[in-house]
Amino acid sequence: MATSLIYKNGALYEAAMLALYGRHYFSRYRVIAGLIPDEASVLDVCCGPAVLYKRYLAKKRVDYTGLDVNEGFIRKLRSMGINGKVWDLRTDAPLPNADYVIMQASLYHFLPNASPVFGRMIDAARKQVIIAEPITNIATSRVSLLSKIGRRFTDSGHGEEALRFTEDTLDELFKRYGPLVKTSFLIPGGREKVYVLEK
Ligand SMILES: C[S@@+](CC[C@H](N)C(=O)[O-])C[C@H]1O[C@@H](n2cnc3c(N)ncnc32)[C@H](O)[C@@H]1O
Repeated sequence: MATSLIYKNGALYEAAMLALYGRHYFSRYRVIAGLIPDEASVLDVCCGPAVLYKRYLAKKRVDYTGLDVNEGFIRKLRSMGINGKVWDLRTDAPLPNADYVIMQASLYHFLPNASPVFGRMIDAARKQVIIAEPITNIATSRVSLLSKIGRRFTDSGHGEEALRFTEDTLDELFKRYGPLVKTSFLIPGGREKVYVLEK
């Protein structure tokens, strides 16, 4: 299965995300970095080109590991001396432990049943699981050309994925983890909703 163009190159990925999020692009990372204390250990699953680490977490001296199924992204990280591993989150192998386990804009890749991967993240976290997930996107647009473009550009190599979360379906998923959910809020611009779960 062919990986979409934006997942082939970190710079292209950043350009596409910048176009999508506009002036709120950087705050989507800044908000998450603000939840992580200096020198914590962080597991970033579906890390992509690890923008969160490179721009924000490196200066907090966190002990970082990024996991992604995309070999190109991980090869590039490792060439920069960043700890990254090729890892398919669809396999049921337990995830490496870390204080904070983070996933940004990737839970939709595991629909229609995101619970198993989410369960593995909870098992791996010593302190918190932080999920930020898009709740508005063009992949589910009623305009068929737009939805086609949205699906094509986020193909991780497993085929086009038509399913996406809405705020209601995300809230429904996290309701199951009720007592663990410490807080939830929208990022500036409202494209993603953040959920912080505490162990
Ligand atoms: C929209 S990008 C998000 C990247 C990064 N978290 C960010 O917010 O900038 C989604 C990422 O999920 C990765 N991905 C998709 N399916 C995966 C899987 N089964 N296992 C691991 N990574 C996966 C893709 O390769 C891609 O890097």
